[in-house]
Amino acid sequence: MHIPVLLTEVITSFEGLNNGVFVDATLGMGGHSQAILEKIPNSSLIGIDLDSDAVLLAQQNLASFGNRVNITQGNYVDMVQIARNFNKFHVDGILLDLGLSSMQIDDKQRGFSFRFDSELDMRFDKTKGISAIEVLNSFDESELADIFYKYGEERESRIIAKSIVISRPIKTTYDLTEIIYNSKRKSKSKINPSTKVFQALRIYVNQELRNVEKGLEEALKLLKFGGRFSVISYHSLEDRIVKNFFKKNSLDCICSPSIIECQCQHSALIRRINKKVIQPTEKEINNNPRSRSAKLRIVQRIPISEQV
Ligand SMILES: C[S@@+](CC[C@H](N)C(=O)[O-])C[C@H]1O[C@@H](n2cnc3c(N)ncnc32)[C@H](O)[C@@H]1O
Repeated sequence: MHIPVLLTEVITSFEGLNNGVFVDATLGMGGHSQAILEKIPNSSLIGIDLDSDAVLLAQQNLASFGNRVNITQGNYVDMVQIARNFNKFHVDGILLDLGLSSMQIDDKQRGFSFRFDSELDMRFDKTKGISAIEVLNSFDESELADIFYKYGEERESRIIAKSIVISRPIKTTYDLTEIIYNSKRKSKSKINPSTKVFQALRIYVNQELRNVEKGLEEALKLLKFGGRFSVISYHSLEDRIVKNFFKKNSLDCICSPSIIECQCQHSALIRRINKKVIQPTEKEINNNPRSRSAKLRIVQRIPISEQV
């Protein structure tokens, strides 16, 4: 089960786009897609996910919508080409619901969670790239420390990396949690000591931040004038990328403040719909604790009639 996060707010962000074509670029089990197809009259949708298990489930869950929905396994950084494959050159709405789904976290064989003892794979697409276990067993101590620090903001990255190298070969999630537990200073924090290292490995293995940067660019290319783009992020590293990207592309000038006369010739492509980031209500968090860190940002591609 995956409960779609900020569902009402996402649907509201697409309100009025009747007859529109949508791209759900992180389809998961299709929860948001289902609501879009139900609530936006005459809408159709292209669903993309890297994970073949998610694609299969979404195909089943959305089967009743027939040819209103097209689903494909792929990376959202390729969304322009994927849409073209379905003869869509521009679309009315795009959703990016970043991170991973409950189905993936709760899968006891994929290594996303420190709650189960399993092989440490962590790839969304199990056929591409290198798995977490290969990273842990083959990277230098300093490379591992950098990954934990950069993608997990783990302050004790160096000592953890050192312990990993000494304890090789690492085989399972529990091997890793034990090493982390034994190498970190004991603290009273309620957060599991393995949280940051697991986040860092997942982000690194799936190249998540690079994908977010590229995916945002591609989405703007695919979005029609007047179309809307909604992005849900779950941690500060990805939210910062989204926030800065939206800010930069909503400005007519990106020259340094010290320059008196504009020299950049930049022009705004989007306008921000919500000035303040949208977060789940207490009720939603109680019903779905996994939504607690979600942040929704919505923009509109500036209609051509309003461009300067
Ligand atoms: C938070 S879940 C989406 C849940 C979905 N909105 C729902 O309601 O069921 C994020 C999904 O994005 C997928 N994903 C992550 N990175 C991706 C990428 N670069 N391209 C395509 N899908 C990606 C993951 O496999 C996961 O299924």
